[in-house]
Amino acid sequence: MLNFEFHNPTRIVFGKDTVAELEKLVPATARVLILFGGQSAERNGTLAEVRSALGGRTRFEFGGIEANPTFETLMKAVNLVRAERIDFLLAVGGGSVIDGTKFVAAAANFAGDPWQILASFGGAVHSALPLGVVLTLSATGSEMNAGSVVTRKSTHTKAFFSNPLVFPQFSILDPTKTYTLPARQLANGVVDAFTHVMEQYLTYPVDARVQDRFAEGLLQTLIEIGPQVVHEPADYDSRANLMWAAAMALNGLIAAGVPQDWATHLVGHELTALHGMDHAQTLAVLLPSMLGLRRDAKRAKLLQYAERVWHISEGSEDARIDLAILKTREFFESLGVSTRLAGYGIGVEAIDKLVAALETHGMVRLGEHGDVDLALARKVYEESL
Ligand code: NZQ
Ligand code: ZN
Repeated sequence: MLNFEFHNPTRIVFGKDTVAELEKLVPATARVLILFGGQSAERNGTLAEVRSALGGRTRFEFGGIEANPTFETLMKAVNLVRAERIDFLLAVGGGSVIDGTKFVAAAANFAGDPWQILASFGGAVHSALPLGVVLTLSATGSEMNAGSVVTRKSTHTKAFFSNPLVFPQFSILDPTKTYTLPARQLANGVVDAFTHVMEQYLTYPVDARVQDRFAEGLLQTLIEIGPQVVHEPADYDSRANLMWAAAMALNGLIAAGVPQDWATHLVGHELTALHGMDHAQTLAVLLPSMLGLRRDAKRAKLLQYAERVWHISEGSEDARIDLAILKTREFFESLGVSTRLAGYGIGVEAIDKLVAALETHGMVRLGEHGDVDLALARKVYEESL
């Protein structure tokens, strides 16, 4: 096992009717900014509950944070925070709203060009406003981690930063708040959480048995509940299990002491930035190709994945690996998420620009061995057509 430090300071308040807990969680004297996305939180009554729980606190609102939040929009929120001397941020939404709120928290008191927050991957952040979360979509794990992904629309750059100062102080996880999600977002959530586990689990063995078995448990849970969540009417238990699985998938626990990959995510960012694909759609398309093309470096873990997650124990090594990758692809497809670029209208002519964008963004040595270079990334896009 590799050396590690593990610290996760986010208080999780989980369950039905927990939005009212905001009353206790947000300081009574806070000047609060509620940040949200489009209309979903207003329409399904979540915002009304939030406003009521905040009682007489001085509060402001900033709506319109888009999916794949943009630097341009978020800077408007930063200006509002500065003008109104806001001292507490409350994100009400999914990964995009939470990530956007983290950026606003870091940018509020940032001296200099706030894009440096992203350009430095968070290293330049030395202070941040406190933030809390009311989660409405299970997928990213942003509710319990210190990462954030922001897109600069003007340059088609999807960039990320991470800094312990932007861990949410608390996150309210009420599974009933996800009842109004459309099937596409539910499926995206399952695929995103699944791929988060894979990015931390499917590298090479370091005899990290606890992390491996936690990861395999999360994968099996997602395989079990995924179809239920997407294809059946909303029920509390499957939504609760998805919500906790997605948070656990990216809260640092299974990352402790193991190598990490993240090439699928980073190669996928260009597909969102240039073609507007949903984050999870990029993962569904790229993960099977990544695993197939990198099978030699990942062989031991692929065989472990085949056996322990998909119960495949017969046939040659390559046959077992092929079947495990096929099962993964079929799982994503069964949720209604296409695993081919063609399914999103993207053809071979797009690849030169995608590879050039990776180069511009310095994404030239990715993966747990730093061996996903531009040539390999090109092959991954080609295999994904
Ligand atoms: O804008 P509204 O109207 O609220 O609609 C949203 C949005 O259109 C809708 N939605 C959310 N909750 C709903 C709902 N609709 C009905 N009922 C509800 N309860 O869902 C749509 C998608 O929301 P979004 O927040 O964009 O989805 P998600 O949670 O998948 O977040 C994706 C973003 O997170 C980043 C991605 O790159 C992407 O930008 N990620 C963040 C990570 C992190 N911070 O750790 C890790 C991930 O790998 C990921 O990169
Ligand atoms: Zn993701």
